[in-house]
Amino acid sequence: MVTKSADKPLIRALKGETVKSPPIWLMRQAGRYLPEYREVRARAGSFLDLCYNPKLATEVTLQPIRRFGFDAAILFSDILVVADALGQKVGFEEGRGPVLEALKDGKDVARLNLDGFHDRLAPVYETIGRIRQELPPETALIGFAGAPWTVASYMIEGGSSRDFATAKSWMYGRVTDFAALIALLVEATSRYLIRQVEAGAEVLQLFDSWAGALSHPDMRHFSLAPLRQIAANVHAAHPEVLVILFPRGIGAGYLDFAAEKFAQGLSLDQSVPLEWARDHLQARACLQGNLDPQLLVAGGRSMSAGVARILNRLGKGPFIFNLGHGIVPETPPEHVAELVKLVREG
Ligand code: CP3
Repeated sequence: MVTKSADKPLIRALKGETVKSPPIWLMRQAGRYLPEYREVRARAGSFLDLCYNPKLATEVTLQPIRRFGFDAAILFSDILVVADALGQKVGFEEGRGPVLEALKDGKDVARLNLDGFHDRLAPVYETIGRIRQELPPETALIGFAGAPWTVASYMIEGGSSRDFATAKSWMYGRVTDFAALIALLVEATSRYLIRQVEAGAEVLQLFDSWAGALSHPDMRHFSLAPLRQIAANVHAAHPEVLVILFPRGIGAGYLDFAAEKFAQGLSLDQSVPLEWARDHLQARACLQGNLDPQLLVAGGRSMSAGVARILNRLGKGPFIFNLGHGIVPETPPEHVAELVKLVREG
């Protein structure tokens, strides 16, 4: 029986081992596509109430583990709890997604603060401890946070955005305010992740979902550099913790990430060519990805062909099977069960 962290398939892959049947978990594996999630969600009150309820957050984290036997559980929370814990008003509206009281200027940035930060996030740390106690011994626990650029974009735009016009108007026009916000997020995110490790997270994934909206120099400056700083802070406190980065949509910019040594895993979106990733990235990092989430909705032969393509190209090096982005609510749960079977049977 597997008992130590080091023996878990996901951890072995992140340490550079080629695991014969690659470990699998899926981004957003807890969520609305599962009827049992919708049931708990309806009981919880608001979405943030669910994130801050250790008992219910533990329950929804474990639901996909029980149903599908994934190799990793990911803490149930959201990247925007960091904005909330810094003092910004954050809400989630049905059908609209996150709605924040948008930052207007440097004064709003200066009003954010780390004073009550860990108190507000204490339920999240408690959730991690509870999940760790209840997980099967072979299942790894992933903690996570949003990357500073992605979180900053929601904080400035007040929600999701198509073109990031306001966030970029800060990046180019309110240079000092933008730098102050990114610096605050680097500090807050580092502290948050260090506490997650102390509570029991074995792996940390950083989501830079909107990195692909940046030019190459801006990506290096506002995605890569803050992530490097966060990893350095976390590793100074906990050298052993494994880090996966997901700089979604950056194309050839993945080379910049692979050239760095601060992360053990690199999560690929579905646009990344597999042969290129194998030849240019896989010797430098454990790769993760990258099935199109819509293939999981489609299922059947299209899905199995997509899975086989990925396994054939990336399965011979350190690799974790995942999607290229999060599961969508329309996904039939039976297709997820089928996917796990396909990956395990190779
Ligand atoms: O299962 C898991 O992966 C863990 C939980 C998790 C959630 N959000 C739960 C959630 C994780 C890892 C996230 C990350 C997250 N949140 C990201 C990065 C990953 C990505 O998808 O790019 C981003 C950009 C967010 C911000 C966010 N939260 C948006 C844009 C939305 C609305 C879109 C949507 O799917 O509804 C959310 C809400 C959210 N976060 C839900 C869940 C389960 C749905 C809300 C609900 O159940 O009512």
